[in-house]
Amino acid sequence: FDRGLLTGKTVFITAGPTREPLDPVRYISNHSSGKMGYALAEAAQDAGATVKLISGPVNLPAPERIERVSVQSADDMLTASLSGLEQCDIFIAAAAVADYRPTAISEHKIKKGSEEIMELHLVKNPDIVATVATHDHKPYTVGFAAETQDVLSYARGKLERKHLDMIIANDVSRSDIGFNSDENAVTVVTSGSEQELPQASKRQLAGQLIEKIAQSYHLTR
Ligand code: PMT
Repeated sequence: FDRGLLTGKTVFITAGPTREPLDPVRYISNHSSGKMGYALAEAAQDAGATVKLISGPVNLPAPERIERVSVQSADDMLTASLSGLEQCDIFIAAAAVADYRPTAISEHKIKKGSEEIMELHLVKNPDIVATVATHDHKPYTVGFAAETQDVLSYARGKLERKHLDMIIANDVSRSDIGFNSDENAVTVVTSGSEQELPQASKRQLAGQLIEKIAQSYHLTR
């Protein structure tokens, strides 16, 4: 694509999982590897953007010349996302944020008791992309929707509920695409359009997605 597509623009991208601690040695998390978000960060940089990559714990090296802010929990990811948001033109939420976290973090390792069943109490995490999309300095805001059923209708619901400009619907019921694999296949959804992008490597797909996002961004600004 045109390498000047996002020259002068600042793009924030969240990537990877969040970790929600239970005690000093345990946490709740998910299978996100960060590959999709990191590929988007590189593609946005190739398009000329200044990129801030807000990353949960992953096993990927920081892409060259990209500012990476490493975070653990959803709360940390929210703080990093809101910091400098006034400068952000496009916000892309590729992270798999834990919807809930333990109500309390135990100061010491939780001991095994005699009971067979143990109950965990969880409280809802802040919704990062929805917070960004309702901010005074709302950037062009893009979410992902990871779904295992009724992918498009759930994605449309999230587009509206979270006040997003675009949502990238991701069927994560298949093991060859989505979480942790090297390939993905998605449908790009805006309020007035829907376009399927067939299975490809996350690197290739990231290039196509950045092109679509940039075009749509320029149309709406
Ligand atoms: O990391 P990989 O292994 O490469 O896998 C890529 C991916 C499958 C994780 C990625 O393509 C993807 O779909 N990311 C979104 C995963 C997700 O948690 O989706 P969701 O439908 O639960 O959330 C919807 C949107 O809200 C997402 O943009 C999410 O980042 C955002 N969100 C969700 C909850 C929350 N508390 N804050 C958020 O910002």
